[in-house]
Amino acid sequence: MKFRAAAAGSDGIRLTMESALTARDRVGVQDFVLLENFTSEATFIENLRKRFKENLIYTYIGSVLVSVNPYKDLEIYSKQHMERYRGVSFYEVSPHLYAIADNSYRSLRIERKDQCILISGESGAGKTEATKKILQYYAVTCPASDQVETVKDRLLQSNPVLEAFGNAKTLRNDNSSRFGKYMDVQFDYKGAPVGGHILNYLLEKSRVVHQNHGERNFHIFYQLLEGGEDDLLRRLGLEKNPQQYHYLVKGQCARVSSISDKNDWKVVRRALSVINFNDNEVEDLLSIVASVLHLGNVQFAADEQGNAQVTTENQIKYLARLLGVEGSVLREALIHKTIIAKGEELVSPLNLEQAAYARDALAKAIYGRTFSWLVNKINKSLAYKEAECPGWRSATVLGLLDIYGFEVFQHNSFEQFCINYCNEKLQQLFIELTLKSEQEEYESEGIAWEPVQYFNNKIICDLVEEKFKGIISILDEECLRPGDATDMTFLEKLEETVKNHPHFLTHKLADQKTRKSLGREEFRLLHYAGEVTYSVTGFLDKNNDLLFRNLKETMCNSENTIINHCFERTELTDKKRPETAATQFKNSLSKLMEILMSKEPSYIRCIKPNDAKQAGRFDEVLIRHQVKYLGLMENLRVRRAGFAYRRKYEIFLQRYKSLCSETWPTWEGRPHDGVAVLVKHLGYKQEEYKMGRTKIFIRFPKTLFATEDALEIRKQSLATKIQATWRGFYWRQKFLHMKHSAITIQSWWRGTQGRRKASKKKWAVETIRRFIKGFIYRNYPRCSENEYFLDYIRYSFLMNLKRNLPKNVLDKSWPTPPPSLYEVSQLLRQLCMQNMVWSYCKRISPEWKQQLDQKVVASEMFKGKKDNYPQSVPRLFINTRLGTEEINPKVLQVLGNETIKYAVPVVKYDRKGYKARVRQLLLAQNAIFIVEEAKIKQRIDYANLTGISVSSLSDSLFVLHVRFEDNKQKGDVVLQSDHVIETLTKTAMSADKINNVNISQGSIKFTIGQGKEGIIDFTSGSELLIAKAKNGHLAVVAPRLNSR
Ligand SMILES: Nc1ncnc2c1ncn2[C@@H]1O[C@H](COP(=O)(O)OP(=O)(O)OP(=O)(O)O)[C@@H](O)[C@H]1O
Ligand SMILES: [Mg+2]
Repeated sequence: MKFRAAAAGSDGIRLTMESALTARDRVGVQDFVLLENFTSEATFIENLRKRFKENLIYTYIGSVLVSVNPYKDLEIYSKQHMERYRGVSFYEVSPHLYAIADNSYRSLRIERKDQCILISGESGAGKTEATKKILQYYAVTCPASDQVETVKDRLLQSNPVLEAFGNAKTLRNDNSSRFGKYMDVQFDYKGAPVGGHILNYLLEKSRVVHQNHGERNFHIFYQLLEGGEDDLLRRLGLEKNPQQYHYLVKGQCARVSSISDKNDWKVVRRALSVINFNDNEVEDLLSIVASVLHLGNVQFAADEQGNAQVTTENQIKYLARLLGVEGSVLREALIHKTIIAKGEELVSPLNLEQAAYARDALAKAIYGRTFSWLVNKINKSLAYKEAECPGWRSATVLGLLDIYGFEVFQHNSFEQFCINYCNEKLQQLFIELTLKSEQEEYESEGIAWEPVQYFNNKIICDLVEEKFKGIISILDEECLRPGDATDMTFLEKLEETVKNHPHFLTHKLADQKTRKSLGREEFRLLHYAGEVTYSVTGFLDKNNDLLFRNLKETMCNSENTIINHCFERTELTDKKRPETAATQFKNSLSKLMEILMSKEPSYIRCIKPNDAKQAGRFDEVLIRHQVKYLGLMENLRVRRAGFAYRRKYEIFLQRYKSLCSETWPTWEGRPHDGVAVLVKHLGYKQEEYKMGRTKIFIRFPKTLFATEDALEIRKQSLATKIQATWRGFYWRQKFLHMKHSAITIQSWWRGTQGRRKASKKKWAVETIRRFIKGFIYRNYPRCSENEYFLDYIRYSFLMNLKRNLPKNVLDKSWPTPPPSLYEVSQLLRQLCMQNMVWSYCKRISPEWKQQLDQKVVASEMFKGKKDNYPQSVPRLFINTRLGTEEINPKVLQVLGNETIKYAVPVVKYDRKGYKARVRQLLLAQNAIFIVEEAKIKQRIDYANLTGISVSSLSDSLFVLHVRFEDNKQKGDVVLQSDHVIETLTKTAMSADKINNVNISQGSIKFTIGQGKEGIIDFTSGSELLIAKAKNGHLAVVAPRLNSR
């Protein structure tokens, strides 16, 4: 069996130190090991106080957890908290129950070694709460399956049931466990909880029939009365009021503000179904609870002979029904006792006192045995069905010990004696496992050290349990010996046998001063935890735990299955005396010690901060007392005596090697030597440390703190250096990478570019070569040498042509074709022109065509012949120069349906005097009309118009030659129009006399009628002049035009 810290090696301690190192500036130290002044109880308690004030209820002493009951909900047990501790190294997080729970669980999983968690502390220190929290932790954090869920539920739900039957309100604790409990949780190979088993120790049965002032009976009684349904209570013959029952009012405290019996009842009822109770079993169980209450109310009265008689027949009726026994038999059994002497059964009546004793004995027996049955029943429902996973080694086990704490009351009896003895045994175990093994480590490491003195309580254990000489042996002896043994004879025997024992005292043995504090019926034990004075009254009875035979027999016949099960017939026939209560307890404790020794223990030491169950109150006296008897100072002293801190060389070197240039960054030699070099460099003094076989031991925390501080500073500079180096490295890597990438891209691009250029050049060379060759062969018929060239020439000519086509019909430009395309070019040019003309023509309107027709005629007639023709070219010919409104209506009327195609104002020159007269010239369908206002002066049919004469000069005179034979005609007409070209063109065209226009040079002859002739002479001059010349001719001076 190895002590955990030793098993976990120095790792645990190392981690403690490390986490404590970081936390040392916070509130107090989270590990007492780090207290500089570790021998001072005041410092120890001050640290506890500091932490308690900050609601830090957990503190370590190495791997032992010290817990102070906060008496308030700290909200540190949530799922998140559980997760925080799950799988995390013990010392990495702040101290907590969960850290201990998780650590044990992990050891169990990894090493497959059974574990146990020992929770100790006095009544009300929080042991049961701690147990429940650890169970909850496993229920939440362990792997699960459907079957496992049921087991988890049952494990959790066994608590409320056991608490209902085994816990009670005491002066110390409103929910005090009145029995010891050791619970094994079994885990399968996957780490899932698969089963459980509970061992119970010495239920305080006396409570069933008697309670001290301010205390209560077991919770279940009050729960049943408060919460039980009316129907159920009726069946059980119970009333809702606890005051009705003698067994419930001894302490005068049936109601407690901190307890809700009604709610607790619901919880218990639900829990019973979870742990597999069927309705009948529940009914039987509650019948027993009720029958205890009825038993309490059974009263006796003495008859004349002083023999007891039952006076409460009603109770007997209920009892008979509830316990399934004959009423009369029970009644008789309660007031008689049967003794077997020499094989014969002797029945003798009981007096009042004896009857009450027998009644109470029955009540205690029924309740006590039912409690054991209950535990067995729970165990059956928790049993691990190993058969379901054959082939696997049975599950590993984690035990939780929640046993009553050290107890000192005003009046201490047999129960306190047993309880305190149990605590002595546990302290013994603690000493064995922690203090001793700590010292053994120094030995195994070969470290010279002075053993620490601690109080070994073996001497007290021996005083209680030693064969023949121990208190229990003497008690048993008194119980068994024939004759009149009483509690007082027991005390005397005790005084005789152990009078010289340093831890034992009685009134008689005490000195004058102490004697005052001791009654004559009392003895005092100097427990490791302090002095306790026990009253011997009731010791023998309680140790005998006698139940009269006839009562036993009655119970053996019970039809209540539980009672029937609890009272076996063999008890009646068994000749051997049953073991006394104390011996039973001693034996069960020694078995428990064996169980615990076979497992790896973890410790939770619970401390109660005050007696008032108040939050935030730190009662120093009370706490100092607990610190003392829990041996916490010794624990710490041993832990620190030699060396506060120890660590394997490898690990120490690994952590601190950076502090010395010789060990940094790597030490090639043995770790031992490396550490030696390192501590020398750090200037450790001789007395500050020791080198063990595998570990270095450091004596004072301050040495380590200094080293740790140095490391902290070193870490900073190392971190900066590492950062800088890393950044340099990182950026250089990045730069190199980028450079490489850039070069790759560049070379690739250059290659691509080069290849493109080369192929372009090659192409160019070939093209040029082909071109030149083609040029040389250009005049040959098409052949392979010139076909490219010719194609190219053709292509480029055509492309050039496409870009430079003539814009309009007047544009005469045309690219010069290569010789080979000359013909094509011509054809194209024609085509192009035709196309332009065609599209031009398509765009011409009829009016414009008419205009152009007229212009063409004018051109034919006058182009190059008459001087003022060019001026007329840009001016458009107008349809008519006079609108119909400008022509006299009369004229129009005369003309009738002759449509006027053209009208223009003209000047007519008389044939004789050449007087100028304003006239209008109208061109109609068939004739020309000369009109003077409303009068048509002359009509010249086109048929009669023989010709038209004009000069070649720039004047605007013209002569219309009229057929001479026509008598009606007055001869040729001399006219002048401002639009002479237009007028003449229209006239010629209308009269179809285009070919009859005569352009004369010099002069024009015309007829004046009857064969007479007139002459007009045209000359050029500076300005227009029309006048009759002396020679009778009409002289016209036409202005010279620049164009001429
Ligand atoms: N961790 C805790 N947080 C809050 N309250 C607590 C805690 N531990 C204990 N308590 C309070 O203290 C009371 C007593 O605790 P508990 O019943 O666990 O004591 P115990 O050590 O088992 O005493 P006993 O030896 O009498 O059975 C609880 O009912 C609860 O009110
Ligand atoms: Mg408890």
